[in-house]
Amino acid sequence: MTTSSAPGKIYLFGEHAVVYGEPAVPCAIERRARVTVEQREDSHLRVHADDLSLDGFTVEYSGATDAAPDIDVSESLIQAAMGYVDAAVRQARDAADAPDAGFDITIESDIPLGAGLGSSAAVTVAGIDAATRELCVELEAEEIADRAFQAEYEVQEGQASRADTFCSAMGGAVRVEGDDCRAIDAPDLPIVVGFDGGAGDTGELVAGVRELRETYGFAANTVAAIGDIVREGERSLAEGDIERLGELMDFNHGLLEALGVSSRSLDNMVWAARDAGAYGAKLTGAGGGGCIVALDDSEETETALRFTPGCEETFRAGLDREGVRLEE
Ligand code: PMV
Repeated sequence: MTTSSAPGKIYLFGEHAVVYGEPAVPCAIERRARVTVEQREDSHLRVHADDLSLDGFTVEYSGATDAAPDIDVSESLIQAAMGYVDAAVRQARDAADAPDAGFDITIESDIPLGAGLGSSAAVTVAGIDAATRELCVELEAEEIADRAFQAEYEVQEGQASRADTFCSAMGGAVRVEGDDCRAIDAPDLPIVVGFDGGAGDTGELVAGVRELRETYGFAANTVAAIGDIVREGERSLAEGDIERLGELMDFNHGLLEALGVSSRSLDNMVWAARDAGAYGAKLTGAGGGGCIVALDDSEETETALRFTPGCEETFRAGLDREGVRLEE
């Protein structure tokens, strides 16, 4: 039996613009998905997860790519999670040259699902690591990142950037620009997350930005301006200038708002954090609902978010410098 874990992430800067070749800077946070894998005698997969912020469930199926789970899983998010597990297992079988390997898999996660915190990437990364180790193969973090990207790419039908999977595999702060992914230096960050309990539709939101960008030259300029913020933000990260980082996050949120990917609850949480004295705040991920990220080393933002209409959950999560790892 092997257990591996991998962190979720927030976007400090650059979501959406990254789709058009601008750089983005995601940071791993101290919230993890843990995947336990035990090889079976047969080639089946049996997946159990009772901690995905949703109802407990058990799925048993043959492990073929398109095999239907033998259970009525009504939650589309749960179905999506199963897709990632299945794709991760296929990557592990391929890496270990063991096409018929079957597994009992248990997933535990304290990352809200589908909310801009990279839950699916963390499950995919940890799943590939645990399953390959169970087959006596140890992959480098870079290879796990690459295989996890292939898995996400397949499940999301080509709509995936390398940001989530690379960040989850490597930990810390990373810079992603197209296929060029690198770890970058960052100070400890006083990250506070606010979660509205919902999730946006990434495909729809990305399509909306694409249309705006094609319709208006100034929307294309807005996307390019986000790229400028990312480059400026990288310098502030390297200098450990948290005040400047906060200012740039505020700016980045304003431009995302202009591109139509924020929502009332996300804006409410962003303003609550700013009013509470946070260095800065912005939505994280695709938007439309889900999470915001603020920088604040006092308790004020968390306290304010607890009383903010539309905020369901708030927590502090430091920058996690460790990526995928084997759990004892
Ligand atoms: O919501 P997330 O964490 O999957 O982030 C989506 C980020 C986008 O830039 C909107 C899309 C992408 O694939 O980069």
